[in-house]
Amino acid sequence: MRGDRGVCPLNALKGEYIMYAVFSDRKRSIISVPVTDSANNDIKNIIKSSEYPVFTLLTAERQTSGRGRLGRSFLSPEGGLYFSVSYPLTGEETNIPFLTLLSGLAVNEAIEKLTGTRTLIKWPNDIYLNNKKLGGILTELVTFRGLTAVVGIGINLTERDFPEEIRDIATSFVREGITPPDKGELIKKITEILDRLVYEEYSLYNVNDDITAKLKERSYSLGKTVSYRLADESITGVVTDIKNTGAAVITLPDGTEKEIFCGEII
Ligand code: BTN
Repeated sequence: MRGDRGVCPLNALKGEYIMYAVFSDRKRSIISVPVTDSANNDIKNIIKSSEYPVFTLLTAERQTSGRGRLGRSFLSPEGGLYFSVSYPLTGEETNIPFLTLLSGLAVNEAIEKLTGTRTLIKWPNDIYLNNKKLGGILTELVTFRGLTAVVGIGINLTERDFPEEIRDIATSFVREGITPPDKGELIKKITEILDRLVYEEYSLYNVNDDITAKLKERSYSLGKTVSYRLADESITGVVTDIKNTGAAVITLPDGTEKEIFCGEII
């Protein structure tokens, strides 16, 4: 489908901001709204109301029901960066879960380019700064007239304080005494880098060692002792590797290696 052009009706998007958008390969309609429940939900609704592959990026000033991985909420007050971007897929990609890691890499590289600040990826989807969560990524798949991935990215830019439950684990640029990047520039840079990783490096088909090496270099989790729980399974060990499949390897005290593909490490 790459290279196709068409008109994408955006009726699903509460109408008033943009009625239609012309898309073409790598050219996206950009939708900017003051408030939404969740930018990921909006893009999913657009996809479900479109006859064509949807190349859209939607950004909101705030979200009333921002969502995180594993059914969690993502606090999204004014001042933060919240956007979602669609990636129509062919269905032949062999490594779709890798998209979340690539997105993390794009976020880290964009932040470093614009601010000189080095952030890290807590496997698989959290962005860490100074041992605290600066942001996160939620990747969802929509199956409607083909397959489309929706990558939602949230970054805390200006929050000075957080609710008590997350005060010790969350942070923002301002909280760390760092001038936050311009939102528009950050969205542009992240998307540029992620597009390159997805479309030019074809990383979802063939994850090369260079990209995995970059991910390891950016990993907050490698070398840390972690607990991992999924359903009724619970283990503790050291994260010793990130594989080309996107899996994290946890080495248990008896030397057994366990590859994990989903869930959360703490
Ligand atoms: C996480 O922390 O587990 C992921 C957070 C992802 C937040 C972004 S903000 C834009 C998009 N819309 C959502 O509802 N969530 C993602």
